[in-house]
Amino acid sequence: SEQPAAPVPEDGTLDNLTDAAKGCRACPLWERATQTVFGRGPTGSRVMLVGEQPGDSEDRFGEPFVGPAGRLLDQALKRAGFDREAIYVTNAVKHFKWEPRGKRRLHSKPNRGEIEACRPWLDAEIRAVRPRVIVCLGATAAQALLGKELRVTRDRGKAIPSPLAPYVMATVHPSSLLRSPDEETRRREMERFVDDLKKARAYAA
Ligand code: URA
Repeated sequence: SEQPAAPVPEDGTLDNLTDAAKGCRACPLWERATQTVFGRGPTGSRVMLVGEQPGDSEDRFGEPFVGPAGRLLDQALKRAGFDREAIYVTNAVKHFKWEPRGKRRLHSKPNRGEIEACRPWLDAEIRAVRPRVIVCLGATAAQALLGKELRVTRDRGKAIPSPLAPYVMATVHPSSLLRSPDEETRRREMERFVDDLKKARAYAA
């Protein structure tokens, strides 16, 4: 069925974008989501983080990375020397996609059409913020911004020059740390995630 294009305003300040995105109907995900979860952070942030899509907590709260993955992200950012308030945090898709599983709402992966429909918002955020480094958290963001050939496991931590920003980098999604099979693996994976974020910080300086 026909969907209207994302209503990106001409004057794309972050406030205007955030406001306009509230009424986006460019894909079907708005219908089952509580609200649009737009990016957060200051204009002129040197670093922009791009996740996949809001989760259950983000959908209720209205801000990116405030749930379990967000708490891990906060810890990692702190260890990498970042002030989260100073960086721009967003997602490739701005509505929560979910399937009912009993009383719970189970996260389901956004498809290519949904990612493409939402892309004008991400591009407008990049134009408004003009980050020096864009960090893709996980394969969804990495493949959207760096292409299908990118493999997070192989290419993580590499600063790749791009038309989107001086550098784009991919790393794992913080929720992958939540799925570690044991404490030792989780500790080691956290270490590697922090190392990637430190590299991004160095390239942004
Ligand atoms: N996972 C994401 O990719 N983004 C969020 O905002 C929360 C969880």
